[in-house]
Amino acid sequence: MTPIRRIYMAPSILSADLLHLQEQVELVAENGADFIHVDVMDGHFVPNLTFGHNMVSTLKRFVKIPIDAHLMISNPDQYIEAYANAGTDILTVHQETCPHLHRTIQAIHQHGMKAGVSLNPATNIATIEDIIAEVDLVLIMTVNPGFGGQKFIRQCLKKIAVAREMINRQNRDIYLQVDGGVNSETVTEIISHGANTLVAGSAIFNEPDIVQAMQNIRSAGEKMLR
Ligand code: DX5
Ligand code: ZN
Repeated sequence: MTPIRRIYMAPSILSADLLHLQEQVELVAENGADFIHVDVMDGHFVPNLTFGHNMVSTLKRFVKIPIDAHLMISNPDQYIEAYANAGTDILTVHQETCPHLHRTIQAIHQHGMKAGVSLNPATNIATIEDIIAEVDLVLIMTVNPGFGGQKFIRQCLKKIAVAREMINRQNRDIYLQVDGGVNSETVTEIISHGANTLVAGSAIFNEPDIVQAMQNIRSAGEKMLR
């Protein structure tokens, strides 16, 4: 199995203090975050509403690190152009929302972005085996999407391991991202099952020292690389 060389951190602004968003995002970006994760919810695919592409364009005014937008929305195809124009670097769609996933991934690439595909906890990993050759990121949800601060679903760990096997078998050097309930405890199993990219919201932004909290998650994960 190809060893995981490094861990990528993607703090989710879902749990940030929106009145201090610039300050908090700059703090994580200047202290080792690899991406800023923007959770887009439509109140239809998931039972909650958050931000849209204007959040990405706003962040782009001051964030230098890549923006990773996680679209938890029905009909993502109709917004691909808007997210490209906003400056999104990685655009992730849910397998469950894309009847023509190959076409959607192609459209994301044609708009100059990296493309990710995400799976809900109840969705079988086999449903994306035939698209792994085309994507830049696979996102395994370890909570049902819609809210921050939920409990990590341990049954999803084996899906991370199967995704890692598929990615390695196809010789793909892509991000295997995990989102939902990631903290300095759950991270050890997440990394040991083969993930290399961590989204964390509440475990970073609900802590008094957000930089320390992010670094604690990364260093707990890095111990599993040795
Ligand atoms: C959940 C979102 C997550 C969320 C994670 O639907 O996709 O990115 O911010 O929050 P925590 O890290 O608190 O589980
Ligand atoms: Zn997310």
